[in-house]
Formats: sequence, C-alpha cells, structure tokens
Amino acid sequence: MRWVLWIAASSLASAVVVASGSSSNSRPAIAPGRLSETGLYEAGAGQIGVVAAENRSFSPQYPLWTDDATKSRWVYLPRGSTIDVSNLTEWEFPVGTKFWKEFQFAGRKVETRMIWRASPADWVFASYVWDADGRDAHLAPDKGVPDIVEVSAGKRHSIPSATDCLACHGTTRPGPLGFNALQLSPDRDPDAVHGEPLTPEMVSLATLVAEKRLAGAPAGLLTSPPRIATDNPRTRTALGYLVANCGSCHNGRGEIAALGPILRSDDLLRDADAVAAALVGQRTRWQVPGRVDGSVLVDAHAPEQSALLARLRSRSPSSQMPPLGTVVRDSAAVQLMTEWITRDLAPAAPRSRR
Ligand code: HEC
Ligand code: HEC
Repeated sequence: MRWVLWIAASSLASAVVVASGSSSNSRPAIAPGRLSETGLYEAGAGQIGVVAAENRSFSPQYPLWTDDATKSRWVYLPRGSTIDVSNLTEWEFPVGTKFWKEFQFAGRKVETRMIWRASPADWVFASYVWDADGRDAHLAPDKGVPDIVEVSAGKRHSIPSATDCLACHGTTRPGPLGFNALQLSPDRDPDAVHGEPLTPEMVSLATLVAEKRLAGAPAGLLTSPPRIATDNPRTRTALGYLVANCGSCHNGRGEIAALGPILRSDDLLRDADAVAAALVGQRTRWQVPGRVDGSVLVDAHAPEQSALLARLRSRSPSSQMPPLGTVVRDSAAVQLMTEWITRDLAPAAPRSRR
C-alpha cells in the first residue's frame, strides 16, 4: 500500500487529504469551510455548540499535552457500521467516520480539529479557527495559523499546518491516535498524567462492545482489557505518557525508524518492562548538552543527562520534544520521568563505564 499526499485546491482554504493507492482518478474530498457544516452540531440557527446526538464524546486515557489546553473530543460512526479491530492495535474505520477535538485556552474555544474518513481512499485532516464571538469556526489555511493565542507569558499557541497533522497522525497510516484499544480500555490508569475521568455518556471499549460496533474483536477483550503490561504502576504511567506523546512519531517506522525511543502499543501490551529496559543506555545521535562521552536515551544514574528527559524538558525549538504542537513544558511529565528513572530504572541498571 502506498500513501499519496494531496493538497486539495479550493478558493477559500483547504486541508490535507491523504489518499491510498496509486490510481486515484477521483477528486479528493475537501473539508467544509465552516465547522457548522461538518456535522458536529445540531443543524439550524442558534444550534452552534449543541453537539448532535449521533456524535459521542470520548476521552483517551493517556492524553497528548497541548500546553494545558482543555480538550473535548467526539466521534461519529455511521449508523449500523462497525470498526474492524481484528488487528487490535490498528483499527480499520468505516467510511464516513469523523473525529473532532476542540481546544480551549483560558475558557475560550480556539480551534477544533477534524479527521474524516471521506472515502475508502481519503482521510481528510482539517482545523477550524473559532471566531472571536464564538459563533462558528472557519477552516484554517494549509499552513496553519501561527501565534493565535497566548498560553503563558510570552508564549503563543499555533494551529498546526495540515502537513503537521500528518507528522503525528500519518507515520504508520493515517487515522486517529486516541481512539484505540489501549486508549479506550476500561482498565484505566488512575495515575495517567493529565488523565481525565470517564463520564457515563462517553464511548469506551465497553460501550463499543455492548453496541456491537467492533468486528473481529478477540475473545476476552473486556474480561482482560488492554493494559500496559507491567506490575510497576509508575512504569505503566510513564510508558502510557510516552506512547501517547512520543509514540505517534517514535514507533520504529517512517523517517526516524532508526532512532530511539521505540514506543508502540503492541509492544507495551505484551511486555512493557522490556520496552523500559531498552531505553536505558541506548545511544542517541542527538548530543545531550554538556555530556562529554556518548549520549544515551536514558542514563539511569544521571537522569538530567538522559536525552529523553532533556528533550522532554526543553522548549527550545531545536531540541524540544515533541518538536511541534507545544510551547510550554509539561512539568508534571518531567517530574514523573525524573522519578521513574531515579526510583525504578536506576536500581535495575548496571552502573555505566563513565
Ligand atoms: C504532536 C502530534 C500531533 C499533531 C501535530 C496533531 N495531532 Fe491530533 N492527536 C494527537 C494525539 C496523540 C491524539 C490522541 C490523544 C489526545 O487526543 O489527547 C490526537 C487526537 C486528535 C483528534 C481526536 C481523534 C483521535 O485521534 O483520537 C483529532 C480530531 C485530531 N487529533 C486532529 C488533528 C489535526 C486535524 C491535526 C493538524 C491540524 C492534528 N491533530 C495534529 C497528536 C497530534
Ligand atoms: C512529530 C513527531 C515527533 C514526536 C511527537 C516526538 N518526536 Fe522525538 N524526534 C522526532 C524527530 C523527527 C527526531 C529526529 C530529529 C531530531 O533529533 O531533532 C526526533 C528525535 C528524538 C530524540 C533523539 C534520538 C536520537 O537518537 O538522536 C529523542 C531522545 C526524542 N526524539 C525524544 C522524544 C520524546 C521523549 C518525545 C515525546 C515527549 C518525542 N520525541 C516526540 C520527532 C518526534
């Protein structure tokens, strides 16, 4: 299978469409110009903000850090359709599926992103910028919108470009990142960094099974639900954070396949302690500032000299990780990783030759 990048041309603005296959004669789908035309809200005047009943809210157990934005997420699955989950870590969504994610900063709606499986060949990625009066949101230009809102003193949030969406959402294959077996598992990590409580109206693995929305689900999906496989609660939480915040790019595929860390949910569901152990002492190409000899992802006996932690902590454009979508450090994550390295990884790690 080959993925081709289309930039849909339109007089207004456009969004990126990813088409599969080599012989696509049909014109790629184009995202509507206004959020109110995407089907998120009830139709009719004055209905903006009233989410249509067929769109259900959900909350991934390990959220992505976006500078402390408050997020709301919804999914639309066409009536009577099912998701093929026979590959538990790569779900196949029915044509017509839509996802939305709304971002609020300081209580104001700033952007709403959309992912839409428009045809068997097309995934549409778009972002809508909210008007100042909060009445509707308009399709952002392909290049995104830089510096749209201040998120902390002197730091401003930017709406990612359409190709930036694919930097995270397209490294394995195009699609959602927070709507999968691990993220929707009822065995929810109580310590997840910035984790949100599941509320009764939200879609979860349990509601999807009860409503017969999953095709090819393995037996025991709910009796032994997906869980990061380790007995150490801090390892579970740390790797949950890393797979959600880093694993969309660092998954052993795509352009940086040869670089660590490798964070994949299938590995984590099998043996998370092995994933953790592989981080310790692994050489990096990136040089930890001030380190004299070879840099490693995790130096268990010198957390501050671990490339993984140094880049998680950094918000300088050339070294920060993730490289896009955030301008403010996630202090809670930095604290968790520091504790995890010191208390859990160090005792198991042999002292290095340094
Ligand atoms: C830095 C990586 C990154 C970038 C860039 C990014 N996303 Fe996401 N996105 C994620 C992750 C991870 C999730 C799931 C976790 C969450 O929602 O907190 C997600 C969730 C979503 C969701 C909810 C459905 C889902 O995947 O669970 C939508 C809709 C979405 N993103 C659209 C977009 C669009 C459109 C763009 C570009 C304008 C974009 N995203 C850019 C990483 C990214
Ligand atoms: C949008 C994709 C993306 C996301 C998300 C992302 N990274 Fe990266 N990462 C890259 C790219 C591209 C490189 C290679 C270029 C560079 O070193 O800056 C890289 C390099 C690295 C390196 C250096 C590896 C080496 O051997 O040189 C580390 C360490 C790293 N990332 C850690 C992280 C961590 C930790 C996270 C999550 C907090 C993360 N990354 C999230 C794209 C990403």
